[in-house]
Amino acid sequence: MDYKNLVAKRISEFVELDVETIEKLLEIPPKPEMGDYAFPCFQLAKSMRKAPNMIAEELKGKINKDGFEKIENLGPYLNFFMDKSSFGKGIIELILNKKETYGESNMGEGKTVCVEYSSPNIAKPFHVGHLFSTAIGNALYAIMKSQGYNTVGINHLGDWGTQFGKLISAYKRWADEEALEKEPIKELLRIYVKFHDEAEKDPSLEDEGRMYFKKLEDGDKEAVVLWNRFKELSLKEFDNVYDMLNVKFDSLAGEGFYNDKMEAVVKEIDDKGLLVDSNGAKVVMLEEYNMPPCIVLKSDGASIYATRDLTAAKYRKDTYNFDKSIYVVGKDQKLHFNQVFKTLELMGHDWAKDCHHVSFGLVRFADKKLSTRKGDVILLEDLLNEAISKTRDTINEKNPNLENKEEVAKKVGIGAIVFTYLKNSRERDMVFNWDEMLSFDGETGPYVQYTYARGNSILNKAGEVNGEADYSKLTSKEEFELVKTLEGFNKSIVMAIDKLEPSIVTRYVIDVAKAFNKFYNNHSVINVEDEGLKKARLNMIEATCQVIKNALNLIGIETVEKM
Ligand code: ARG
Repeated sequence: MDYKNLVAKRISEFVELDVETIEKLLEIPPKPEMGDYAFPCFQLAKSMRKAPNMIAEELKGKINKDGFEKIENLGPYLNFFMDKSSFGKGIIELILNKKETYGESNMGEGKTVCVEYSSPNIAKPFHVGHLFSTAIGNALYAIMKSQGYNTVGINHLGDWGTQFGKLISAYKRWADEEALEKEPIKELLRIYVKFHDEAEKDPSLEDEGRMYFKKLEDGDKEAVVLWNRFKELSLKEFDNVYDMLNVKFDSLAGEGFYNDKMEAVVKEIDDKGLLVDSNGAKVVMLEEYNMPPCIVLKSDGASIYATRDLTAAKYRKDTYNFDKSIYVVGKDQKLHFNQVFKTLELMGHDWAKDCHHVSFGLVRFADKKLSTRKGDVILLEDLLNEAISKTRDTINEKNPNLENKEEVAKKVGIGAIVFTYLKNSRERDMVFNWDEMLSFDGETGPYVQYTYARGNSILNKAGEVNGEADYSKLTSKEEFELVKTLEGFNKSIVMAIDKLEPSIVTRYVIDVAKAFNKFYNNHSVINVEDEGLKKARLNMIEATCQVIKNALNLIGIETVEKM
């Protein structure tokens, strides 16, 4: 039952505010002794021409108290105390009934959302920033899907641009086939860097690079074959990471996919009279909106990053007819997206307002050893493997006899990284600190996972308990807090969607784990004599585990039964 809503409905019968407004006014009292919800009566003083504390007293006498333990007035506040026994029963049974679907709704039914995330660059390392995008996008995708949205996951691979002409030129000059097969991205990076070094000495190399890109754009067979090869080799490496993270996409349409679709869009911009010549380049002027011009064609006639984004945005609208199209990309690209969205708007596409840049902060390293020297990159795969190996060490220390240690180390280790990425509001810079993120205490992935495993082990130890659960006995503060937290799952999901902020779900699951541990530290379960109470507590634990599992799954983390 939604108690907040019930409180608001009961109040609304006697005042001139609607349920929604009342819900917004409701407060959580600072102390549990003061009730579960408080309604401040100040708002009504004017219309009712009475002092707020008199209104509170009057309402207390009138309101229907069914479903509440009591209702009290305290000064200008009207405090509601929920009936704890019926509350626990309702929520726990609901969760045990719905199982993995608890938390879902059909609020998004009939609506399509494009979610673009990850989008690494071909022939370049998959770096820690791309993991940020991958983790946020993957979570938003699952979170929205859980509410019935039709979600389209897109990996907008960076696989187009003049740099690929340079890469072809570099490949033909210096590539080492053996190295390319073994460590493709490393080798591609090596020859790309070499190209730049050599081009400083011999500028004609730049022309050669441009020439190859032109060939690629024109569909020259050799150039296309090489480009495809770079792409395949890179994707193979990226796929290792995606497999480890269990991340999937519905579309891999990268920048190159739009090569043959850009001309029409450039023409459309021109037809609308927006295209202006600027030193040979074609641009859309945006000074009226306090932005530098959006470059559409460079002076050599080549398309650029923005051209492909304009084309991709249109393609997505035409193909998926989205209600919302989101781009999970670092905040350093804020201006770029503002320019692209504004240009779409000027082109007359009113759906430009449905495009959102979901930005995130930088990744910093607390550990000096990890901070990169110039030109030195941290490969994500190494980072994930490191997390696994460190977690394996902890397990060997804490629980050396654990079966399937490898699987546990993998899920918990990788989960720890993902959890850290999704713990704080995304715009905040994230600090990469091994000790902190892998700790079993504190607000970490392993802590939540450990709580889940602990709950499971209690359930296993208890075995079958005869008789009916007596939920009316779950009356302690800790039990009530836990059940109340479990009730809030869907609300946290809806809020996460509203703010496009997965950390709301992450914080939620931390709250569940904390509430559970508080309960477990204060009350026994296995040794309880009263079978009805014991069964009720066990059911509450089972419900808690279910909610932790569902919530972690939404943010892309798998649980383990033992650890
Ligand atoms: N490949 C780009 C990068 O690594 C990110 C792409 C972002 N998405 C977009 N539609 N522009 O910086």
